[in-house]
Amino acid sequence: MAVSRSSKRNRLLAFIFATVVAALALYVFYKIEPTLRGYLNARMSSRPAAEDNLLNIPKLILWSLLAFLGVRALNTVLFDFVFRIRRGFEAPTLVRNVFSLVAFTILFVLIFNRIYTEVNLGALFTTSAIFGVIIGLALQDTLGNFFSGISLHADRPFQVGDVIVVGQQKHTGVVEGITWRAIKIRTFQNHIVLVSNSNAAKEAIEVCPRENLNARLVFFSTLYTDSPAKTIHVAREAVRDADNVSPKITPIVRIRNLGESSIEWEIKYWLEDYAKYNDTDALVRQRVWYALRRSGLTFAFPTRTLHLERKVTTRPITLEEQIADRLSAVDVFSPLSTEELRQLATATVGHVFAPGETLIRAGDKGSSMFVVHNGRVEVQVAENGRPRTVAVLTEGNFFGEMGLFTGEPRTASVVAIEETEVLEIGHAAMKQILETNPDLAESISWTIAERKASLAAGSQQAAQASIEESAGLLSSIKRFFGLR
Ligand code: CMP
Repeated sequence: MAVSRSSKRNRLLAFIFATVVAALALYVFYKIEPTLRGYLNARMSSRPAAEDNLLNIPKLILWSLLAFLGVRALNTVLFDFVFRIRRGFEAPTLVRNVFSLVAFTILFVLIFNRIYTEVNLGALFTTSAIFGVIIGLALQDTLGNFFSGISLHADRPFQVGDVIVVGQQKHTGVVEGITWRAIKIRTFQNHIVLVSNSNAAKEAIEVCPRENLNARLVFFSTLYTDSPAKTIHVAREAVRDADNVSPKITPIVRIRNLGESSIEWEIKYWLEDYAKYNDTDALVRQRVWYALRRSGLTFAFPTRTLHLERKVTTRPITLEEQIADRLSAVDVFSPLSTEELRQLATATVGHVFAPGETLIRAGDKGSSMFVVHNGRVEVQVAENGRPRTVAVLTEGNFFGEMGLFTGEPRTASVVAIEETEVLEIGHAAMKQILETNPDLAESISWTIAERKASLAAGSQQAAQASIEESAGLLSSIKRFFGLR
């Protein structure tokens, strides 16, 4: 700041000094002109026109110098003060340059006409076809840049301070200015790249405006064994409070691809200052690394799973003992012996469902029941075409018993509220248990009766019917399973 102020002062002093010197020189020249003329007269007595021309050259130079200084002063007043105050931003360099060029040309032509009254400048320019061709050819590229620059200014597709990606080489950086020749951008390696206006006008330019909430994508991958719902939560929370990540929009974490050896993720986040996206991307990756590590999630690296010939029964969720443990906590299974629980555990199949996934659809046929191992589900019935939740079931609760024990279609839909692991018990496994534990059929029949009554709670008639029906439930269960 101090440097720019002192350099401004130096420039002002230099300007005043140059103006004073030029004015003084002009004054002195007019003073000594008669003397000079007398001297030249004596030396070139036969050619007064030549002597006039000679004396006019310093005049033209000095007046042009003063005109140049005047234009610069006017430029500063107009664009540094008036323009900035009225429009609120700095005037583009190109506009300033065009203004200076036009103003100086006009002044120069006026001065020239005043000094060389007998020379017709207009005629000189318009009649000189060769001059025109030479200028045209020499300035072909320059004029192309110049007019492209003007159209860029008229269009205003970007402003100083915006990040742009331009050119075939995909130069990326912050726009520092647009001159009559080129767009000047400062890359993230702090290099200056000049892309000529005519090239830029032909290319697609990607603009990330400063005032815009620009987004970025950052990628990472995790093991297939890691839970997607957990990964989403952990990564999103890690990113959302990182520096320069906009709090206005919550970052999005989503699966981009199910890759060969990993789940591939992308994080989409929005930046407050896009010019710092390199640092922010790095910070986001760092935060994700720490968060994943804390949560026991693992970054994936290329792996191959080899299945050997020897068949091993694998359980997708947990060990057999854990399952038996879970089943022992289910109230209807509490009378079962440890051995029976272990048998039942072996016969169960584990499944994982994502939040929002439907586990059971009302009306479907089904011949198995489920125990919630982890997570939560809700039981829904359709009412006026909309789902109504009748119950929320958590760890240790079971569902699907109505279909399994009665053979009727599913009475309700069951949807996962969060990531949920369930243990499925099929008809054959249940039949085996019922043969040694006939009392189990009775306790299940009570649950079914209660649930049916609760389902019919909306209608008095239906509730009454379901209670009456429950009396015959036990015998129909026994019949269904072929029990005595
Ligand atoms: P099923 O009819 O096989 O499929 C839907 C399941 O939702 C049903 O078995 C029950 O397990 C469960 N269900 C139905 N109504 C209720 C309720 N009122 N409370 C808890 N669970 C229920």
